[in-house]
Amino acid sequence: MSATERFDQAASTWDLVDRRVVLARGVTEAIAARIPLSKEMCVLDFGCGTGLVTLALGPLVGSITGADTSTGMLATLAEKAKSQGLHVHLKCLDGDGNANLGGPYDLIVSSMTLHHIADVPVLIDLFTRHLKPGGQVALADLDEEDGTFHEDASGVHHHGFSREHIRAWLAEAGFKQIQLETATVTSKESGDYSVFLATARGN
Ligand SMILES: C[S@@+](CC[C@H](N)C(=O)[O-])C[C@H]1O[C@@H](n2cnc3c(N)ncnc32)[C@H](O)[C@@H]1O
Repeated sequence: MSATERFDQAASTWDLVDRRVVLARGVTEAIAARIPLSKEMCVLDFGCGTGLVTLALGPLVGSITGADTSTGMLATLAEKAKSQGLHVHLKCLDGDGNANLGGPYDLIVSSMTLHHIADVPVLIDLFTRHLKPGGQVALADLDEEDGTFHEDASGVHHHGFSREHIRAWLAEAGFKQIQLETATVTSKESGDYSVFLATARGN
């Protein structure tokens, strides 16, 4: 089964794991504390999943788009958005590094998706082409971990990231005002895992 099929299968029960809901809340709060959000902003959540971050940011901004490779995840997000009376634009991606993400956006956020992307610098470059001048990114993912976070590591390309790599990749893509902080710490039976938030402004 492909990684996308696994996310499709997991979509309907994804939010039942409280740890994921709490992690997404921590990431959303860290984004909102770092970036002044407003109703003038057009925002993309890349790798939105069931919309745990998307739907929390939606009421705080002007328009929100959720993009993901999993149709199952997007269908669950659509149902949740409808029941909450929120409008979310949805984009189903094919995982191509040259995807049209729509926009341009004032802000691109992504939570817990980068470790599923083989070539993160290519993705960061893709983001630069979908931001308005001076637009921002807010990227959250695992700090380097020992490989125990995922019980099934298929579709996982990175056991977290070194913050210095993230900083260097953003700088190479031309981002300025790069800041890295701890967004939250998530705990599983196998241990505690810290999650960074990287924010930066494009040209
Ligand atoms: C761990 S989940 C995180 C979901 C959500 N951001 C959250 O915080 O709950 C990772 C998500 O990334 C999506 N994904 C994996 N590879 C992707 C790719 N190449 N492009 C876009 N989304 C991808 C998966 O389908 C899944 O919904």
